[in-house]
Amino acid sequence: MKVVHTIKEVREIVKAWRKEGLSVGFVPTMGYLHEGHKSLITKSVSENDRTVVSVFVNPIQFGVNEDLAKYPRDLKRDTLLVTSAGADLIFNPEPSEMYPAHFTTSVNTTEVTEHLCGARRPVHFGGVCTVLTKLFNIVMPDRAYFGQKDAQQLAVVKRFVRDLNFDIEIIGCPIVREDDGLAKSSRNTYLSPEERKAAVILSKALKEGKELILNGERNARKVIDAITKVLYTEPLAKVDYVSIVDNTNIQPVDVIKGEVLVAIAVYIGTTREIDNFIIEVND
Ligand code: PAF
Repeated sequence: MKVVHTIKEVREIVKAWRKEGLSVGFVPTMGYLHEGHKSLITKSVSENDRTVVSVFVNPIQFGVNEDLAKYPRDLKRDTLLVTSAGADLIFNPEPSEMYPAHFTTSVNTTEVTEHLCGARRPVHFGGVCTVLTKLFNIVMPDRAYFGQKDAQQLAVVKRFVRDLNFDIEIIGCPIVREDDGLAKSSRNTYLSPEERKAAVILSKALKEGKELILNGERNARKVIDAITKVLYTEPLAKVDYVSIVDNTNIQPVDVIKGEVLVAIAVYIGTTREIDNFIIEVND
């Protein structure tokens, strides 16, 4: 397992692999890796001859009042996890390597970015699409792996990869949870012990919503209201959004039908947590 910091080094290594006819999987991350990332890396390792993991806290996907400065970083710890998961290369560039002076190009996607986190974080998905375009062009993988926890990000990536004809298979992987149900996230480290306990309300509320749908409720408003009600039983929770959208175009639905994404964003203290589930209803 090698750690490199420049685009040139990644290109040389991947070129040599390609010469040998090896396939390449890619797991883009912002570091501070946890079991969720590990599951993506393990899947890539099992499906490709070589796996590249990028560790880069991408400044352009954070809004001005967001947590760029305090986002947790620990390359040593990340290196151990990536090594134990069996990947071959970490790409850990400096921001100046990715964004040299006079960097003026951006990649933006509409429709799938209009609602949910896209509405709350206006620069976010432009930053994600731009950095992924660069990373895809640097690594040139056959497959790239993303967690279902960032369900809208996954829909956005699938869309821009299709629209711009990247020859890369985008693979979504299931959410990995703590024993009490909280979805794993690097941002969970921000939570105080009391907030950590309170954060379990996200998965509890979603469970209630899922049960309603499984029991035949098809009115999206009713499911949203029921989820919101459960969230507000937790005094430390402040709801940012509870939404039900079509999982392909990420547009709100009134009636639950086909493949829908039930997504929530909730502040626990000052930490914004997201969670979701996807359900297919064909009746
Ligand atoms: O999901 C993330 O960690 C980031 O948004 C990504 C995909 C690595 C782009 O910076």
